[in-house]
Amino acid sequence: QLRRIPHPPRRVPLLGDVLGVRPRTPIQDSMRIGAGLGPIFRRKAFGKEIVFVWGARLAGELADEARFAKHVGLGVANLRPMAGDGLFTAYNHEPNWQLAHDILAPGFSRDAMAGYHPLMLDAAGQLTDRWDAEAAAGRAVDVPGDMTKLTLETIARTGFGHDFGSFERTRPHPFVTAMVGTLSYAQRRNVVPPALAPVLLRGAERRNAADMAYLNRTVDEVVAARRAADASGAHGDLLDRMLEVAHPETGERLSAENIRRQVITFLVAGHETTSGALSFALHYLARDPGVLARARDEVDQVWGDAAPPAYEQVAKLRYVRRVLDESLRLWPTAPAFSREARDDTVLGGVHPMRRGAWAVVLAALLHRDPEVWGERPEEFDPDRFAPAAVRSRPAHVFKPFGTGARACIGRQFALHEATLVLALLLRRYDLRPEPDYRLRVGERLTLMPRGLRLRLTRRGVPG
Ligand code: HEM
Repeated sequence: QLRRIPHPPRRVPLLGDVLGVRPRTPIQDSMRIGAGLGPIFRRKAFGKEIVFVWGARLAGELADEARFAKHVGLGVANLRPMAGDGLFTAYNHEPNWQLAHDILAPGFSRDAMAGYHPLMLDAAGQLTDRWDAEAAAGRAVDVPGDMTKLTLETIARTGFGHDFGSFERTRPHPFVTAMVGTLSYAQRRNVVPPALAPVLLRGAERRNAADMAYLNRTVDEVVAARRAADASGAHGDLLDRMLEVAHPETGERLSAENIRRQVITFLVAGHETTSGALSFALHYLARDPGVLARARDEVDQVWGDAAPPAYEQVAKLRYVRRVLDESLRLWPTAPAFSREARDDTVLGGVHPMRRGAWAVVLAALLHRDPEVWGERPEEFDPDRFAPAAVRSRPAHVFKPFGTGARACIGRQFALHEATLVLALLLRRYDLRPEPDYRLRVGERLTLMPRGLRLRLTRRGVPG
């Protein structure tokens, strides 16, 4: 079955394709290898053979929900000990997926989003207070660190009425440290042979157990605080939905154990990737004065003197949104997702797949397929997302939020938050890159620019 799929030329017996691999950057490794091997390729490590797809035509087929579904594998499966049958890590057949999806989806409706807007502004206000002080002191800001504080505060407050106090700390909140620990551990488990894991990962396993215990404790405290304060459902946020809302048709409710899984899932999935997306966007904006000026002109024009901006004024920022889309094209912060065959099928007319067989869609490379994105896919150009350009491309070639029934439930939340924050920052500051910074991308299942710092000057504008 696999014979027709190319793999790296030199395979080591038992070990597989380990020559020249960089275990800390498995995604960028796969991008480099895949670009040379073509639209479908395989990599083998320690007896495990993994098929990757990045060609637009094949990825388009894998997006067909009649033939394929989400596969819970690799990094996602490694998160099961932490997130169990929470929305992100649930197997398709687990009843808690549909139950939680139906109960939580209205938490992302337009009305719900409008309700989150003022809380998003509050969290952004804490960020700009911090950045005003840094600008006045002439200090460069730690972009990924501060974006993580911002997005954690945003999801914690809007979803759970909880304040982590991230901006009152100089170091990351221990919740973030524990989360980064478990994500990195889940990634490492992919690159260590299972038989050797107990030896090679002994120390890491112990730390991971401590990290998971910390995450669970934090979540239990958040839930207990809400139960103690009031259980009337008056907040109308995600936690209220989890605790108070029954399924509209069956009347079924989420169990206490499942609620714990969902709270962890939303606190992690709800901030880590948005933080990366904001950080990459700020990197590209600071490096490209033309793009920055155009984005800022749009904000000044659309928002005028309004401070703070109203909910409806965010979706009107079409160009800022394009900057964000283009950043997510080059660095989709959830860089890959997996798809499995619902029945025996043949991919691309030549690759037979048995029911349950799966492949990884390497979104970060799909987003650079020259057949779709042209000869210079590495170039940052937000106009690739101008309406006419989008219309001219086939479907399923831009997939930062996954695909189908299991695509990201928080997409609108992330886009609203990130567009709002970029606009607020563009309006308030001049951004300057550090002269010798070159983009380095760190991996912990998600992608994040490493060591990105920017220098700021306050502009004299409202708000
Ligand atoms: C699922 C990306 C923001 C919650 C996904 C998936 C991707 C993704 C690719 C599908 C994974 C798969 O197929 O295995 C992103 C990106 C974000 C973002 C790039 C930000 C730029 C958010 C936010 C929330 C969230 C803000 C919550 C507030 C979830 C959940 C799922 C999910 C719960 C699982 C959905 C299901 O299977 O039913 N996300 N996400 N995400 N995301 Fe996001």
